[in-house]
Amino acid sequence: MRKVTVVGAGKYGSTTAQRIAEADLVDEVVMTDIVEGLPQGLALDMNQARPVVGHRTMVIGTNDYTDTAGSDVVVITAGLPRKPGMSRMDLLETNARIVKRVVEEIVDKSPECLIIVVTNPLDQMTTLAAEVSGFSRSRVIGQAGILDSSRFAHFIAEVTNEDIQSIRAVTLGSHGETMVPVPSLCRVGDRSLTDVLTPAAIDDLVERTRNGGAEIVGLLKQGSAYFAPSAAAYKMVHAVIKNTGEEMPVCAWMTGQYDIHDVYLGVEAKIGAGGIQQIDELPVTETELAALHAAAEAVREKVTDLEKIEWGS
Ligand code: LAC
Repeated sequence: MRKVTVVGAGKYGSTTAQRIAEADLVDEVVMTDIVEGLPQGLALDMNQARPVVGHRTMVIGTNDYTDTAGSDVVVITAGLPRKPGMSRMDLLETNARIVKRVVEEIVDKSPECLIIVVTNPLDQMTTLAAEVSGFSRSRVIGQAGILDSSRFAHFIAEVTNEDIQSIRAVTLGSHGETMVPVPSLCRVGDRSLTDVLTPAAIDDLVERTRNGGAEIVGLLKQGSAYFAPSAAAYKMVHAVIKNTGEEMPVCAWMTGQYDIHDVYLGVEAKIGAGGIQQIDELPVTETELAALHAAAEAVREKVTDLEKIEWGS
């Protein structure tokens, strides 16, 4: 039996569970949350859509990690979202405590699983999940790059009035201040983005992409984005379950690519059954490479904040 667990039945978690279920990727999607009744109610509602949508996957809502046992993939969405005006980094300590507890449970119940982290601050929470799990780092990956690139692509399509499907947008680096959009590799149809828009217009889109999550938090006033984020998480789950080897931007453990070592960072990688199959070094410009190195250092610095947390018992 193939099984995916989604931890957290908030908007991000529940839409991710719904997308996986509707795609009939696996037999079961388990959705777990600490709030009693919430995952159960959402699961019942999703299952009642099966005759209409036409899929067979069952969603199991639970407050008990025992039900997650034997999962192939676990997506961690648990944690607090930002409030307007907050940075993802403001969530560091609170979400670190949640993610640590979740990972301990997951490793106990599904020692063979692959972990996909989406909780913010993303790069640090992925690092923490890898450390707590003790798993090989190719089996612990973070989701951010697909989302950031997708936002960038949307903004490019909107401004150029081109078909969204003809846009290739690339973002690397961190999911935050040191996100590194890579205009030199972005394409609009068969043209380079740098031939289509002025540097100033590209800078505006880059800035809007970097603030893409905050813009939505500001509009919603409560909670953060989840339609595009869950689409991005789904894409990773699909690649792992179907072992596609597809290249996509993810938060991965760096082992010397771009001359960056021993830090989680957003890069393009081939994703399949075992997680990261290969990190691809893209031909970025010198400026973009310098920005990627700066992003790696920024992530590394914030990881030291994790080390200062007193965990208690
Ligand atoms: C965002 C959150 C999910 O970027 O990080 O919307």
